[in-house]
Amino acid sequence: MKTASYFCSVKLYHNIRLLYTPVGFSAKRGKEMADIETVPNAAILTTEDGRIQAVGSFSEERPTSPPIPSEKRIEIEEIDCRGLVALPGFVDSHTHAVFYGERSEEFAMRAEGRSYQEIAGMGGGIRSSVEAVGQATKEEIAEYSRPFTRRALALGTTLMEIKSGYGLSLEAERKLLEAADIVSRETPMQIVKTFLGAHAVPRGRTQREYVESIVSEQLPSLYAMAEFCDVFMDEGYFSEDETVRICKRAKELGMKIKLHADELAETHGAETAVTLGAFSADHLLNVSDAGIRALSESEHTVATLLPITALSLRAAYAPARKLIDAGCAVALATDCNPGSSMSENMQFAVSLGVIAMQMSPAEALTAATLNGAAALDRARTHGTIEGGKMADFVLYDIPRLEYMPYHIAVSDIVAVVRGGSVVSGAL
Ligand code: NIG
Ligand code: FE
Repeated sequence: MKTASYFCSVKLYHNIRLLYTPVGFSAKRGKEMADIETVPNAAILTTEDGRIQAVGSFSEERPTSPPIPSEKRIEIEEIDCRGLVALPGFVDSHTHAVFYGERSEEFAMRAEGRSYQEIAGMGGGIRSSVEAVGQATKEEIAEYSRPFTRRALALGTTLMEIKSGYGLSLEAERKLLEAADIVSRETPMQIVKTFLGAHAVPRGRTQREYVESIVSEQLPSLYAMAEFCDVFMDEGYFSEDETVRICKRAKELGMKIKLHADELAETHGAETAVTLGAFSADHLLNVSDAGIRALSESEHTVATLLPITALSLRAAYAPARKLIDAGCAVALATDCNPGSSMSENMQFAVSLGVIAMQMSPAEALTAATLNGAAALDRARTHGTIEGGKMADFVLYDIPRLEYMPYHIAVSDIVAVVRGGSVVSGAL
């Protein structure tokens, strides 16, 4: 590392053998998802506030003439990326990463042939995590959750959504959102919070009573603590009418919408998400043709696919190919949670996108970066390596982009850069 005089910048990451990125400030749909820019011998110039000033070939970024007046010169750090490959940081736009306690027993029960719904009916599932959260303090929950964000960062995730939803009462949902705040303060990763009070009906309450308490008690008290409101709209969870009621109230309070849609059964979830103007409809394992059409015609509803969940539940994968061919914007995320997807590994979600859902590596990269950012209303600031965006990128010791999903469940990451600084690994 050495320093040099340069105009208005703090760092120059150079000697990047190949840089791959989608480009743009909104989600890519359909065929456009495969449009990836490849820059050989790249350099990334970052600004003092952790954004990208410019991207190009190293030689192009060096000042030639006229010389910059000395009063405008500042010291910059040159960082040699030693011929590594740069990709944008992953955006994990769907996680339940604040929880307390694990459920590997249920995982083993599924291996014996029991279904997710059966296990939930036997007292496992979401409600068993709710009991564990009920016994813990926000500090204990944060302490339990912190290693997940630390590992996710080391695996290349630089922006992550975290949902509440294992509280299912005003105080316990607040506790989870506060735990997410603690985690957020302690990690260099950026966190976006979602309120998921409508994750299940807690023991001892009727469906009707609980929906009423979300609308009249939880949302009015907690809306300022989360940017998005999500509902688990599915068979055995929340109906279309209940979902619409909850989301309308959330929107009145200024929240944005996401939906768990058509995961366990086709319940008109995708269409409801589009009608509500949701930023994403997630899961979609059982989405109908009409749902695909609605998503393809939507203004900004991203189809967020969670293949690790399908793998973990031994369910059929979401129809990624059909969604992309219909012109939808598809994102990939982990769904990290203790029940249906115990993984914070975005690279593995990308591998499954390619292997199990027939996405090309380029489409899967767009899905895991720019389209994930769009699902979080962050496409203007995140998800690509280009001027004006956050300087969030990852350096890999790989020969080419395709190698990343091809090297299944093994990380070739050398360093993770978040907001212009190396925050995991080393160069
Ligand atoms: O996204 N589908 C709803 N919620 C989670 C599962 C939560 C759990 O089982 O703890 C999901 O798969
Ligand atoms: Fe989920």
